Amino acid sequence: MNRPINDHNPPYRAVIAGHGSFVPAKTLTNDDLSKMVDTSDEWIAARTGIKVRHITTDDETTAFLATEAARRALAEANFNADEIELIIVATITPEMVFPSTACFVQRALGAKKAWVFDLAAACSGFVYGLSIAQQFLENGRCKNALIIGAETLTKITDWTDRTSCILFGDGAGAVLLERSSDGRQGILYSTMASDGNYWEALNCQAYGSRHPAAKKLDDSKKIYMQIKGREVYQQAVRRVVETVTECLEACNLSIDEVGMFISHQMNARIIESAAKRLKLPDEKVFLNIAEYGNTSSASVPIAFDECVRKGGIKRGEIVIFVVFGAGLTWGANVIQF
Ligand code: UT7
Repeated sequence: MNRPINDHNPPYRAVIAGHGSFVPAKTLTNDDLSKMVDTSDEWIAARTGIKVRHITTDDETTAFLATEAARRALAEANFNADEIELIIVATITPEMVFPSTACFVQRALGAKKAWVFDLAAACSGFVYGLSIAQQFLENGRCKNALIIGAETLTKITDWTDRTSCILFGDGAGAVLLERSSDGRQGILYSTMASDGNYWEALNCQAYGSRHPAAKKLDDSKKIYMQIKGREVYQQAVRRVVETVTECLEACNLSIDEVGMFISHQMNARIIESAAKRLKLPDEKVFLNIAEYGNTSSASVPIAFDECVRKGGIKRGEIVIFVVFGAGLTWGANVIQF
């Protein structure tokens, strides 16, 4: 059945043809962190759900992680890189100021036909990327697109700040979207939102045009991520609940009809609190933050890839991706997988 969404019934749908993820081999446990700052495994696990995170070495860059995740997604779909038409890399820790990280990924993959760009929407970047690619596939402009979320957040982490350094990890996840005229599969609905009034809640201020690299910083900490955890926490629960509710209403879906909810892995307590308000059963809420921490734009595609591989989502089932992050930004995709 071709499921009409809010009278939106496009001739094509953007179908997930392949998915893959990659994290660096090196890990940092809560016990390791407790030797660096005044914290403990008990505090971190109880307040965030995180036990360990993967961290890059100096040689492992964002484009490297992104390329490895992309290669796995392409292999899974048995798809040649030289057929890719569009590559979007969602990241807030790019390879360099310019050119885009996506250009490095294109080069590494040999995706000569593709046009490529980066997307900076922090933790919401991957869902924003899927939503944008969805438009190009639905309107017939592209036959396929590769969407990657890739981050090396530990390179902008202040390892002396216990309120932030315990939260983040590195990694990448990718999906290959292909255009299909079979209405039974694909992205059914996407929603995106932002509120720049809260930019101070979560940011990294150097080295953009406000604080260029060539000028001495008034505060050397501006090279690191800074967060107001409590403020973000409250907003996150509220926005995740609102966004999932909007998705269910727009798609005329009951919770019973949804196979799995893949939330941005920002804090297990935030996800559990939102899930409780939405009355989601535990078995439909995928959690893997314990092993990765918060990997920003890479979080949802890593979780999705892992969940599918563990048999948590089957072809034909409905999955909802929901994200929230710096900006503030938030959004969701409803997908018939
Ligand atoms: O993807 C979006 C990005 N994610 C975020 O921005 C994170 C959202 N926020 C959170 O996940 C939570 O707010 C945190 C995990 C960051 C903090 O948890 P919390 O329950 O909100 O704790 P809190 O900030 O209210 O701090 C409670 C206490 C404080 O001590 P006092 O003032 O009560 O004496 C903190 O100083 O815990 C202390 N604290 C720590 N103690 C041990 C803060 N960080 C640590 C730490 N280890 N790492």
